[in-house]
Amino acid sequence: MPWTPECKSGFDEIDSQHRLLFAISNELLDIENPAKQQDEIKYLLHHLVDYVEKHFRTEEEYFVKYSYPGIKEHKVRHAEISNQIREAVTLSKSMTQLKEQLDTMLDKWIRIHVLIEDKKFSAWAVSKGIIK
Ligand SMILES: [Fe+2]
Repeated sequence: MPWTPECKSGFDEIDSQHRLLFAISNELLDIENPAKQQDEIKYLLHHLVDYVEKHFRTEEEYFVKYSYPGIKEHKVRHAEISNQIREAVTLSKSMTQLKEQLDTMLDKWIRIHVLIEDKKFSAWAVSKGIIK
């Protein structure tokens, strides 16, 4: 899950948080033997869940600050992602199963969200002259 320039939102605080989310996600994706690396997975997931929530709060503060009209829809997407991560953690019957779910879903939860949903906010902010 590479960080590319097209992932940039134009807001420094959001971008540095996104980079850290990519880094934690990549650490999880790099795990090769989930059965033997259970502690590592638990540790990383704990950080991912925590940091995703902190990050969503930050983004939502920006939406409020600038009266972003897409706030309602974007907050729904955030809630869905948080729920899906929690669901994967609670419903998985083994670390191997959880790891399989993460492998297919992290890209969608994090990268696609950054590239599509967060970009809508960036484009709007550019159109309003909030960022360049
Ligand atoms: Fe977002």
